This record gives sequence, C-alpha cells and structure tokens, in this order.
Amino acid sequence: MRRTDRLYIGTNTKMYKTISDTVSFVKRLSELTSDLPRDILRLFVIPSFTALEPARKIVSKDEIMLGAQNMGWEDEGQFTGEISPLMLKEVGADMVEIGHSERRHILGESDEMENKKVLAAVRHNFAALLCVGETAEQKKNGIADEIIRIQIKIGLNGVEKPENILIAYEPVWAIGVSGVPASKEYADEKHSVIKKVVDELFGKDTDIPILYGGSVNNGNAEDLIGMPNIDGLFIGRSAWDASNFNNIIRSVMPIFLGKKSREDRA
Ligand code: PGA
Repeated sequence: MRRTDRLYIGTNTKMYKTISDTVSFVKRLSELTSDLPRDILRLFVIPSFTALEPARKIVSKDEIMLGAQNMGWEDEGQFTGEISPLMLKEVGADMVEIGHSERRHILGESDEMENKKVLAAVRHNFAALLCVGETAEQKKNGIADEIIRIQIKIGLNGVEKPENILIAYEPVWAIGVSGVPASKEYADEKHSVIKKVVDELFGKDTDIPILYGGSVNNGNAEDLIGMPNIDGLFIGRSAWDASNFNNIIRSVMPIFLGKKSREDRA
C-alpha cells in the first residue's frame, strides 16, 4: 500500500501538556479511536520529550505513533541541552518532527540544521516529519514557492530513499493563536509545488505524504482533506482535546476515502 493511500493525521502539543496531561490525552484518544481501521489511519501524537516514555507505555506504534518535537543530530557528544536519536529510541519514539516554524523562527534553526536532523532521523529509522512554510512577509513578496523549494531541497539534501519522510506544509502566518488558516485552494496549490519538488528530487510520483497544518479546525478540516494534493493534517490547538480531535478524525475519514476511491477509478 502506498503511504499516500493512508490518512496521516496528528498533533504536536508544543510546550503545553505535562506528563499527566499527555497520558490522559493519549489514553482517551486511543479509547475514542479504537474502532477506526489502522491500516488506513496513521494517527500520531508529538508530545514533550518528558512525556514520550509514559505515553509509549499506554499505546502501541500501530495504534498511535509517537514523535519528538526536535532532535539533536549526533548520537552523543558535547551538545548541552540536546536529545540524541539514541535517547529517543530508548524512550520508544517512532517519529521526529523537524523544522517546525517555532524552531526555525523563535529558536533560530537553519535549513542546514534541519537537514542534519533529517539525515540523522533517516539513519535511525525514524519517520521524519519535515515542516516547511513561508512567512507572511515572504508571501507578500511573492516568494512563497521559492522559500518552500529551498526548505525542501536543503532539508532533504542527501536523502537517498524518501520512504520514511513526511512533509508538513505549515505557512507561518497560519499557525497559532494569531494565525489565519490558509484557504483550501491556496494550501492545495502549495502542496502541488511541494509534490513537484519531491518528484524532481526522487522521481515521478514519489510517495511522500504531504500534510497541511496551520489553524486546522472542525470547520475547515473536511474541505482541506478533500483537496487532491493534501494527504493528511497536522493539527495544533484543535486537536489538544481528545474528543474534539476524534470528531475531526471521524469527519475527515470518509472524505479522504471517497477521494481515494475516485482516484482509483480515474
Ligand atoms: P495550530 O498549530 O493548529 O494551533 O495553528 C499548528 C502547528 O503549529 O503545527
């Protein structure tokens, strides 16, 4: 089965949930979604580092993949404050989020740093979720496509087989409390730019799921997932309540499946 035939939907809880918050969230989410077919649905949660191991004790990878919000690129060394791939393996993480807009724009990470993290994730067999997206200023200057292409070409430089790579398109202006969600047309258009770059890098019809993120909510999730180039959703605030997250997952699943069966018939 192609990865893009599965619905990837997940959340990054940023610096919000404590261990006990995360444990109850993951427990509830797993109960609420237990009837949903995991051959189609790839559900993931990216909590704080400290909550990874306790959360792993509650859910299996097949049920809910667990990711880290960041990762150092060396296995060990003089890197105070960093968490290495080996340490993430040890606590049971399956996935690593790389280059979230807050890491790039608040913590000052560069494309070259994201690239080192991607290569380390690939080396250690983590699913690597590379986040890309333009700022409002870049959008205003008409260079969104160029920025996205640069972030992907540098971010994925040296990756030979992209089978563990996922990409999240998250325009910076759409993220967080003051974010304005991208229209489905705008998001789809940028996803098509991303598909084109990955096809240039890895060959025609490359199977990299491309997720949209940035103010996804109950009101726009269905429209977004219905678009031809949007393979999944990466949600912040609207997913932090397990029952609301479950509602979103259930509302988008039939739309995703309908889109896939139309593609099969075409
Ligand atoms: P948001 O966050 O859904 O709260 O806008 C998205 C993100 O930061 O990934």
